[in-house]
Amino acid sequence: MRSTTIAGNWKMHKTQAETKAFLQEFAPRWQPQGGVEVVLCAPFTALAMLSGAIAATGLPVAVGAQNVHWAEVGAFTGEIAPGMLVELGTKYVVVGHSERRQFFGETDETVNQRVRAAQAHGLTPILCVGETKALREQGQVESWIFGQLDRALADVATLPVIAYEPIWAIGTGDTCAPAEANRVLAAIRNHLGDRGGDTTLLYGGSVKGSNIAEILAQAEVDGVLVGGASLDPQEFAQIANAARPGK
Ligand code: 13P
Repeated sequence: MRSTTIAGNWKMHKTQAETKAFLQEFAPRWQPQGGVEVVLCAPFTALAMLSGAIAATGLPVAVGAQNVHWAEVGAFTGEIAPGMLVELGTKYVVVGHSERRQFFGETDETVNQRVRAAQAHGLTPILCVGETKALREQGQVESWIFGQLDRALADVATLPVIAYEPIWAIGTGDTCAPAEANRVLAAIRNHLGDRGGDTTLLYGGSVKGSNIAEILAQAEVDGVLVGGASLDPQEFAQIANAARPGK
């Protein structure tokens, strides 16, 4: 059985005080279920308080970060080392988000290095892949995504969680039709071969309380990576409550 994961990617949102307020609103609305992993990928500055609050309340939320460097330490101004995340109780880390690729020069090669370093420290990467509108219009969805996957997963023994996030569906309200998301996830699973069968595959891009049921109903969708709608504790609780244990 594959595990179900509902992950919120807060991006560059929420101070420590806002994180605390989120948890206070979220906790009473969320019904945790065995076999459904709920993850909050917060800014680095909120990770310690998130871990501390979770430990104090027993809320079964997993902590995630949004980037990780591959070196142990070094002269890499503005980056964060895997061991630093582990010390803060981090379990997951988003790697290769399209915003990092677009705005911060992330390449498949650096994504690969980040995936391997994260895994070497016991972190579970959430590897993001996805095509632009132009690539989709040129009929290059699969070839693009397979290329991203092959390069990001070079010399990676254990597959990370993989999130399919079509760039044109991120923050636009233009959700990929659930059946199309399912089709692409099936192609990804097939491309991963023997290793794909029990890999957790997520969909991300304009996931909301209003479309979560239809998205999770798709056979290949093991969960979601939620941006904007994860900032609202009420809506994120609705999304988390819609999930069921693995397929
Ligand atoms: P939105 O849910 O805001 O479209 O963002 C998706 C995303 O990028 C999650 O990583």
